[in-house]
Amino acid sequence: MKILIIGNGGREHAIGRKLAASAKKPTLLFAPGNPGMEELGSCFAVASDDFRGLLSLAQSQKVDLTIVGPEQPLVGGIVDLFNENGLKVFGPDKAAAALEGSKAFSKDFMARHHIPTAAFKTFRALEPAKAWLREMGAPIVIKASGLAGGKGAVVCMTLPEAESALNSMLGPKAVFGAAGSEVVMEEFMEGEEASVFALTDGETFVLLPTAQDHKRIGDGDTGPNTGGMGAYAPAPLMTRELLDEASRTIIQPTLDGMRKEGMPYRGILYVGLMITRQGPKVVEFNCRLGDPETQVVLPILQEDLLDLILASLDGTLGKCQVQPPKEWAAVVVMASKGYPGSYETGIPIEGLEQVGSVASAHAIHAGTKRLQGRLVTAGGRVLGMVGQGPSLTEAIQAAYAGTAKVAFAGAQFRSDIAKKGLARLVV
Ligand code: AMP
Ligand code: GLY
Repeated sequence: MKILIIGNGGREHAIGRKLAASAKKPTLLFAPGNPGMEELGSCFAVASDDFRGLLSLAQSQKVDLTIVGPEQPLVGGIVDLFNENGLKVFGPDKAAAALEGSKAFSKDFMARHHIPTAAFKTFRALEPAKAWLREMGAPIVIKASGLAGGKGAVVCMTLPEAESALNSMLGPKAVFGAAGSEVVMEEFMEGEEASVFALTDGETFVLLPTAQDHKRIGDGDTGPNTGGMGAYAPAPLMTRELLDEASRTIIQPTLDGMRKEGMPYRGILYVGLMITRQGPKVVEFNCRLGDPETQVVLPILQEDLLDLILASLDGTLGKCQVQPPKEWAAVVVMASKGYPGSYETGIPIEGLEQVGSVASAHAIHAGTKRLQGRLVTAGGRVLGMVGQGPSLTEAIQAAYAGTAKVAFAGAQFRSDIAKKGLARLVV
C-alpha cells in the first residue's frame, strides 16, 4: 500500500513515523517532506499549496491513500479535488474544514447547536468593535477570524491592550491581512486547557490520547503565543468523566450538526478545550492533528493508526475501539532564536545522531533542511525532542536528555514542559 503524506513539519514526520510502524508495512511518500521524513520514505518537491502538482503526483505514483497534515490545504479544498478525481484521501473537505478556517463560521455554528463555548460577537469594522469592547470591558479575547498560524488570538487583560489588538486587526495597518478583516471578540474563559482529538467518519468517532500543549514562548506560560513549544500526553486533567462530558456535549453534537447542515465532518476533529467551572467549553476547533501534540499522541496510541484511518474511510469505524494509553510521552520543541518573532535560518544543527543513545528518546524534524549535505535550521520551530516512558517523569527526563545532545546557535526551549501535568499527578 502506497501512502502520500502532505506537509513538511513535525506533525507530518510524526504521522510518517507511526505509519511506518503499521502492520500493513506501507510505502511512504511525502510532499514536500523534510530531512526527518527522508529516512522513512521518498520526498517529492511539491509544495502543500500546489494542489494540481499534488494531484498529478498521487496519480503518477499510483498512491492508494493520501493523508493531509496541515490546515491550509484542507481549508483550501484539497480533499474536494482528490475526491473529484476518485482518489482516497483522509481529511475534511473544504466546507467542513471551515470549522477551523473561519472562526466566525465556527462560533456561529456552535451557537446554532448549543455547543458550550465563550460568548462572542463578530466584527468587520473598527468603531462598532470598540463600542462593544467598552460595553464588555477586560479581560477579553480578540481573534482574527481566518488562519493566522496560531498567532491570531490575543488575550487582553486590560482595555488599552484590547484597543491596540483591535487597531492591529481592523485598523488601517492590519497585520493579518484578509485573515484579520473579520474579528471575533469573545468572553475570557478561566481554566486549564487540553487538546482532544476525535478521528471520525462523520457519524461515529474514536478518541486518540488527550494532550496538553504549551502555547507561550516562556517558562511559566509567559510571553507571546507560538505555534506550540511542547506537549505531553495523556493529559491527567482530562479524566474519563470529563472526556465523556465533552463527547456528549461537544463532539457528538458537532458531528451531528455538521451532518445535518450538509457538511459531514470526516477526518480529525481537534477540539481545543477550556475546562471551566461550568464544565468543558470549546476554545477552538481545528481540522487536523495538533502540532506539537501529534508528536506525543501518536507514540502512545496502542492501535494501528492506519487501521483507524482506513476504517473511517470504509465506514467501519463503529467497530473500532481505542484503549487508554499505557505509556506517557513528552515533547520539548527546540526553536530558533527570535521565534515567534523573526529569526534566521540556515544555522547548522549538531549532535542529532547522538539522540539515539538516549533510551526512549527520538527527534522529530519540524523546521530543518539539508544544505550542501549539512543539516541546518529552516524554520521557527526546528526540532521536537520526544521522550516516552512508563511514567510522565521518565518521559520528561528522556525528552530533556535528548535536547542535551543537540545544539544549534541560539536554540531556545522551555524548561518546564509537562510540569503542569506532574503537578496534577502528585495532589
Ligand atoms: P486560539 O487561536 O483560538 O486557539 O487561541 C490561542 C490561545 O489563546 C488559546 O490556546 C488560549 O490559551 C487563549 N484563548 C483563546 N480564546 C480564549 C478565551 N475565550 N478565553 C481565554 N483564553 C483564550
Ligand atoms: N498546537 C496547536 C495547534 O496545532 O494548533
